[in-house]
Amino acid sequence: MHKDTFNQKYDSKKLYWGTRPSDLVKNFASLATPGNAVDLGMGEGRDSIYLAQRGFNVTGVDQSEIGVRKCLKRAEKLGVNIKTVVSDVRSFKIAKSRYSLILSNNLFQYITKSEAQHVARNIIRGLKKGGLVIASVFTYDDPRFKEYRKKTTELEPGSFLLVSGDIYSLYDYGELIDLFSPLRILYYSEYDYFHTHGDTKGHWHGIAELVAKKV
Ligand SMILES: C[S@@+](CC[C@H](N)C(=O)[O-])C[C@H]1O[C@@H](n2cnc3c(N)ncnc32)[C@H](O)[C@@H]1O
Repeated sequence: MHKDTFNQKYDSKKLYWGTRPSDLVKNFASLATPGNAVDLGMGEGRDSIYLAQRGFNVTGVDQSEIGVRKCLKRAEKLGVNIKTVVSDVRSFKIAKSRYSLILSNNLFQYITKSEAQHVARNIIRGLKKGGLVIASVFTYDDPRFKEYRKKTTELEPGSFLLVSGDIYSLYDYGELIDLFSPLRILYYSEYDYFHTHGDTKGHWHGIAELVAKKV
């Protein structure tokens, strides 16, 4: 699911998500003590590479072998070491109490909310004491929410089955906090932004971002 779409997006010399790390990871990763980190849905690895450059021992996981390959090529050029796993995050085993930092940056849109609950539980279990999760999802403010509600099958509240057969989930206000409620929330924000990535006209997104710590 979504694998072909992302492989197509990534199948060019250019980096689809760019070379710079996401603002969320750039702003908050230094709250975590360098150690083992896992980047779930790493894409082309913009955040994985940033973390490796800051001394984290990074494992990046993505279903897109093209994204993973591009990350490894760039990491080699930059002289940083990253372990990668081509896998579906729903079946990827996160070792217990192993990680100082786990990223789920723009990932939970692509699985159902029940599946995201399962992955979130594994993330919490995988964090060491003092470890951090950094996560983001798109919200009900995202214009796709109204569109998908009208035009597609809603499998569970906010999780849609698209005509392509892919899943797309959007999150209600505060739902991302609920997923990580056993942790201490250090930062949480919901906002809308206008974005010109991927099309010339641009489009709106509604996003929720969270940083939380296992205490
Ligand atoms: C919006 S991109 C974000 C990439 C990266 N986190 C970033 O911010 O640059 C979402 C990524 O999640 C991956 N993905 C989606 N569903 C997945 C799944 N079930 N298992 C593994 N990767 C998945 C996609 O292949 C894609 O690379």
